[in-house]
Amino acid sequence: MPLAASAALLTSDGSSQRRPANYSCPVPTQPPASLAAAVVLAAGAGTRMRSATPKMLHPLGGRTLLGHALTAASATGPGRLAVVVRHQRDLVAAHVTEIDRAAELVDQDEIPGTGRAVQCALEALDAPEPLEGPVLVMAGDVPLLDAGILSELAAAHAAEGNAITLLTATLQDATGYGRVLRSGGQVTGIVEERDASAEQRAITEINTSTYVFDAAVLRRALRQVGRENAQGEVYLTDVIALAHAEGLSVRALQVEDPWAVEGVNDRVQLAALGAELNRRTLEGWMRAGVTVVDPASTWIDVTVELAEDVTLAPGTQLHGTTTVGAGASIGPDTTLTDCKVGERAEVIRTHGTGAVIGADAVVGPFAYLRPETALGVGGKIGTFVETKNATIGDGAKVPHLSYVGDAEIGEGTNIGAASVFVNYDGVTKRRTRVGRHARTGSDNMFVAPVTVGDGAYTGAGTVIRQDVPPGALAVPESGQRNIPGWVQRKRPGTPAAEAASHALSPQSDSTTTDDVDRGAHER
Ligand code: UD1
Ligand code: MG
Repeated sequence: MPLAASAALLTSDGSSQRRPANYSCPVPTQPPASLAAAVVLAAGAGTRMRSATPKMLHPLGGRTLLGHALTAASATGPGRLAVVVRHQRDLVAAHVTEIDRAAELVDQDEIPGTGRAVQCALEALDAPEPLEGPVLVMAGDVPLLDAGILSELAAAHAAEGNAITLLTATLQDATGYGRVLRSGGQVTGIVEERDASAEQRAITEINTSTYVFDAAVLRRALRQVGRENAQGEVYLTDVIALAHAEGLSVRALQVEDPWAVEGVNDRVQLAALGAELNRRTLEGWMRAGVTVVDPASTWIDVTVELAEDVTLAPGTQLHGTTTVGAGASIGPDTTLTDCKVGERAEVIRTHGTGAVIGADAVVGPFAYLRPETALGVGGKIGTFVETKNATIGDGAKVPHLSYVGDAEIGEGTNIGAASVFVNYDGVTKRRTRVGRHARTGSDNMFVAPVTVGDGAYTGAGTVIRQDVPPGALAVPESGQRNIPGWVQRKRPGTPAAEAASHALSPQSDSTTTDDVDRGAHER
């Protein structure tokens, strides 16, 4: 998807010279940026979220925080991908495996800190033989950090032949972040906010927690990192000063887009980053030819696919694997999850999950499409209709006030208003089949399992318990029976009885019995 390009990057010496739009990284002497491994840190407790759900598993724009990190990391094509887990280990680990079976899970022990997390990862990656070459390390909670930025970081690392290349950003408010220490432009270390002097806290260039390290340098330096700091943790950031002291090349690549490096620590940041991601997603789709009438009330997951000339009316949410074909219009007030909408279809005020809507079909207003609904080309699921596990053929219509569950409806068939596919006998769900070009009356109950043949008709108010042969008309066995005067005898003194008496009195000029008879159904 043509999303807004990843952030413009500054030069690696930190000078504020912006790269032109067509900037491409210096051509490396060896094959570009092939990372030996990527390490995603996901062991932290995320206490500030105040949530029973691990922070890494909170969703944003269609993926979890960790899902965004893993997608970006694996798009850089690392030789191996390790994810460090500890807090709510089993939940996080299961999620990692679900996203990427090839990802290696590494358990962090009780020693705290980002440095320890990376140490544990390296131990795992050093088997069966010691890892060599560039290793990407990133936090699992920075959802807008995309593969483009990571690849640029890896490319700069390779091109400059660095021992360490870190991604930094200059923020107006650097509170809470580790600050980048420089001497004569050279990066000399990182100091955490809690360990920083007042002078160091005034520095606005921050560590984004995204780095490419040479594996051997990282391994060696981590052995020397202690826990003598305000938090008593093994800081990964201490590796920077150690490498600098060894005279190794440590460079920073500055990212200009502050959103791309913002981590989620609490739910305020979660909402802010979610809104920004959505804004970018919408902008990408608008530039790709989608009309978004009201971006403020439209939410689209990064996993959704839209074609040209799709129109999204206000209050539209598209989630999961939803795809929408060219010229279709969705909304207002519609939520579709994992749905497939065909070309030129119209979906109005609808809630749908796992449904397929054919080209030129019309759905809504006020429709509820449950999983395995399939509506054919030019078909209709109308107002106050609920469907589930139902195949409705090309040109077939269920226009009003109906429930269609566990059913097949053939092409060109029309289901009368207020009909129910009675699929559940209290124990078992069963299927109903209605053939092609059938016409069923209003207020029918199709008691499954039952089959209505091709071209059959059914009368209004019929309870279909037996199969209807093709071309037959099914009507209720007993006709209507009127018991004259029942209301006046059994409900004397009620407004109904009075109205009836009035109507039947000789002076009355209101409807006569004859009129009623004439109004009765003709069969
Ligand atoms: C870290 C950096 C800081 C940087 C900031 C950017 C250190 C010491 N500090 O601080 O310089 O500005 O990120 O957001 O690295 N994690 C583990 N195991 C642990 C602790 C953390 O895997 O024992 C993971 C977390 O799950 C998270 C990442 O490491 O994904 C960062 O941890 P966090 O506690 O948020 O670090 P910060 O204090 O924000
Ligand atoms: Mg953090």
